[in-house]
Amino acid sequence: MKPYSRLLVPAALAVALFAGAGCNPPGKTKAGASGATADAKSPAARTYVAPGEKDEFYVFYSGGHSGQVFVAGLPSMRHITTIPVFGRYPGTGYGYDEETKAMLGEYTWGDVHHPGLSKTNGQYDGRWLFVNDNANNRIARIDLRDFKTKQILGPIPNSMGNHGSSFVTDNSEYVLVATRFSTPLPKGRYADPADYEKEFNGAVSGIRVDPKSGTMSVGWQILTPPFDWDLGSTGKGPSSGWAFWTSYNTEMAHDQLEANSTQKDRDYAAVVNWRAAEAAVKEGHTTTLDGVQVIDPAKVPGVLYYLPVPKSPHGIDTDPSGRWIVASGKLQPVASVFDFTKIQAAIEKKDFEGEFRGVPVIRHDSVLEGEVPVGLGPLHTQYDGKGNAYTSLYIESAVAKWKMPPWTAEEKADLNKVVTDKIAVHYNIGHLAIGGSDTTQPYGRYLIAMNKMSKGRHISVGPSQPEDSELIDITGAKMEEIYETFTEPEPHFAQILKADAIKPIEVYPKAESTNPDAVWDAKDTGVTRHGNVVEVKMIAIRSHFTPDRIDANEGDDVIIHVTNVEQTPDMIHGLGIVEQNVNLVIDPGETKTVRLTMKKTGVFPFYCTNFCSALHQEMQGYLAVKPANYVGK
Ligand code: CUA
Repeated sequence: MKPYSRLLVPAALAVALFAGAGCNPPGKTKAGASGATADAKSPAARTYVAPGEKDEFYVFYSGGHSGQVFVAGLPSMRHITTIPVFGRYPGTGYGYDEETKAMLGEYTWGDVHHPGLSKTNGQYDGRWLFVNDNANNRIARIDLRDFKTKQILGPIPNSMGNHGSSFVTDNSEYVLVATRFSTPLPKGRYADPADYEKEFNGAVSGIRVDPKSGTMSVGWQILTPPFDWDLGSTGKGPSSGWAFWTSYNTEMAHDQLEANSTQKDRDYAAVVNWRAAEAAVKEGHTTTLDGVQVIDPAKVPGVLYYLPVPKSPHGIDTDPSGRWIVASGKLQPVASVFDFTKIQAAIEKKDFEGEFRGVPVIRHDSVLEGEVPVGLGPLHTQYDGKGNAYTSLYIESAVAKWKMPPWTAEEKADLNKVVTDKIAVHYNIGHLAIGGSDTTQPYGRYLIAMNKMSKGRHISVGPSQPEDSELIDITGAKMEEIYETFTEPEPHFAQILKADAIKPIEVYPKAESTNPDAVWDAKDTGVTRHGNVVEVKMIAIRSHFTPDRIDANEGDDVIIHVTNVEQTPDMIHGLGIVEQNVNLVIDPGETKTVRLTMKKTGVFPFYCTNFCSALHQEMQGYLAVKPANYVGK
């Protein structure tokens, strides 16, 4: 998409765009950041969270191909923690113990795009955060009780490029997923990419969520033509039970998509009745493909409709009332507002403009409320719950604020009148986030612009530049930028949650420990040998390990279970074994296991990796490995 920014940006805008890029003179301090005391209403005062004070909101940023989730505080925008999901993270020992190693499986990375908070009655319930992996077709669940990844589901069968995800339904019945890429199905089947139209398919998947445990499983899939499904959102209110995805490439091109998939003026959005899909599965109107109950939408009427949307659309966002569905075409400078009540009426009256492979195409003009001229390169829309919509403009590097319907006759006659404000952002904004925009009651107040380019608006860090995040106050008639910060690559989207909506634990309570390998008392620790398997049950407590000596022989399998028996918040211990690539980090009350084969002989020191006490340095021991041919005592 980058080339458009160079081709289509108007000259005046381009000046604004490139002014300041790369010129951050050393020693220059941002006005207001030092010297005079901040005005009570200054941006500095509105974002300053004094030492000892706490932020009011969490921001959960997706970490893109870092495979992680970054957690920041709002309004300070300070990075607080990183939740590793699809990749190893030595800092928390994620991917080094047996449990998380097994969860990561054969993959060393993921591509996290759209975090989705769990909901009850259309409101965030603070239980889980779901995130998708565009690269390896997975979806993960983070438990907000301890901010840890608890499940990674996938690779999902019949799914290639899990981009259109993670969209959570009103009561977290499902996380809904659509494929970005299409391939011959089931996976493993070969077909010539030149036979794309005939041999390739995409799918929309309903990932079922157990209401109690949150455990995810693949519920059903709707097989689709090989369009490239892009982004989606779930319905609410009148559109509850429905979900929407945009697509690009209804041309069904298989090569040179930049040109070949941008031929048509309109692509199809999918209008999916997921309750009907669920019913079709119950009634047995499915076939099994790679172990999944699959619905052919041509044979099961009512589960899928197409809605034409201009042009190469990207975002499609349901408003808080559930009536208005806003879709934006990257190559057309408008946001199309569709009325779900009209969509329902069109379906009822069979007001279709044709069909595609047996799936009805809803008549565009019958359901369109209006096209709002928001600006160049519109991508995503968020809502403040006060009747305003905010659309990110990639090409224009701006956010447009506009008034949602109902519109007056005068406004309808010239929808320029409903665009009430615009603010420049730096630069090339992708997603934007307003707290609760996908719920029935958005928080409003703040908007975060997630910009794809930072172009040197920070002290130089060499060619690998961070992403730029701008915090915009949306409480007034005019949007106002109040803070700018930088994140690691590469946030695509964020969810914002009120801090007081959750109460995370600070220690794993001993009373709740069910790990059979946990030991809580020094007398229960020890080293046991069964043949060539050496099993160690160890405790960690300030400032020692018990046992602090492990004896093994060359070729032995050594299994170490460590329990951090502390019940004091922030008393974390680590177990690092020198030259053995062992890195466990054990939170208070937690037990972790690592298994290793003694390939090397010698004596390997182990030590606590977290600075836990004045005698932290003394928290150490030895793993002594005798060679097979060793003679002596
Ligand atoms: Cu335990 Cu340092």
